[in-house]
Amino acid sequence: EQINKGKYEHYMQKEIHEQPESLTTTMRGRLLRGGSCKAKSVLLGGLKDHLRTIRRSRRIVFIGCGTSYNAALAARPILEELSGVPVTMEIASDLLDREGPIYREDTAVFVSQSGETADTLHALEYALENGALCVGITNTVGSAIARTTHCGIHINAGCEIGVASTKAYTSQIVVMAMMALAIGGDTMSKQSRREAVIDGLFDLPNKVREVLKLDQEMRDLAQLLIAEQSLLVFGRGYNYATALEGALKVKEVSLMHSEGILAGEMKHGPLALVDESLPIVVIATRDACFSKQQSVIQQLHARKGRLIVMCSQGDAASVCLGGSCRVIEVPQVEDCLQPVVNIVPLQLLAYHLTVLRGYNVDQPRNLAKSVTTQ
Ligand code: G6P
Repeated sequence: EQINKGKYEHYMQKEIHEQPESLTTTMRGRLLRGGSCKAKSVLLGGLKDHLRTIRRSRRIVFIGCGTSYNAALAARPILEELSGVPVTMEIASDLLDREGPIYREDTAVFVSQSGETADTLHALEYALENGALCVGITNTVGSAIARTTHCGIHINAGCEIGVASTKAYTSQIVVMAMMALAIGGDTMSKQSRREAVIDGLFDLPNKVREVLKLDQEMRDLAQLLIAEQSLLVFGRGYNYATALEGALKVKEVSLMHSEGILAGEMKHGPLALVDESLPIVVIATRDACFSKQQSVIQQLHARKGRLIVMCSQGDAASVCLGGSCRVIEVPQVEDCLQPVVNIVPLQLLAYHLTVLRGYNVDQPRNLAKSVTTQ
């Protein structure tokens, strides 16, 4: 496997730019286009013997840490929609701190790039003791989590070296979207949605290739933000996870304080921070939450917020009030897959901010790729 930097200066940069290929590998052999009389479908070999049990479970609980947790959060809405099973989220350490309830009737899904994270592994042991069906989603064949779970899916994103996870994040979301399709089965009422998601998955590597063209624009933005103390990222719905993950990327590598904020919570605290100088990224791509995000932008604008709005191509005029904000236009995809596209400019921003600020982008201060102690 190719683990040198090739034409790139850093692993993180290489891993961001290879996402069209890593996503293709993740989907290879798993998506069926359907023929004249065959429906489009998904084949996940590692799950097929357990789908009935998963469909009948009382709930699906996603468990992970850091970026892996954020990926599960991004996939949650489509999983709820297609499976009809309630989906809850647990940060592994918090589940253990609370000794939170896990039941025999639960499906517990452990998401981990390395498959070795101690908190996630301990949460897995805890869920096994409680009798849940345990599913692993990892990037590492033969890892502890892959070996200890009852069944699972490898994300096949290829080796990730940069401490800040990038290509594993997008592949994890894609795997969980495929998992949602597999669990959803072939109910007639959801057929057109399922087909739209499958078409969207086929086209996703091209859309990611397109959004990567924003590289220079993100470098320019990084130059503008280089000396800032803090950056807020507002998102909601499918892109709440994008806000958390974008902020995590910025803080972990560029060492700038950054916070992902659920836009629906804006009035309950974050609004107090808004002034003319604090930069705020608002994710407002087209989906069912778009008009709510437009209203968030209006309210931030009324308080003279310094806005950077991420919107769908062609929407600049609908989101940018009086031309006073900076806009990042991204290609539009099926709403539940939009987080895969939207995270890319924020990965690029975090990367360029770090390089321009002179920090180590592949090995950020105090952090490890895989945290194997609790
Ligand atoms: C560490 C890494 C993060 C990663 C997290 C979970 O904190 O620095 O990039 O998201 O662990 O790792 P995992 O291998 O379980 O996905």
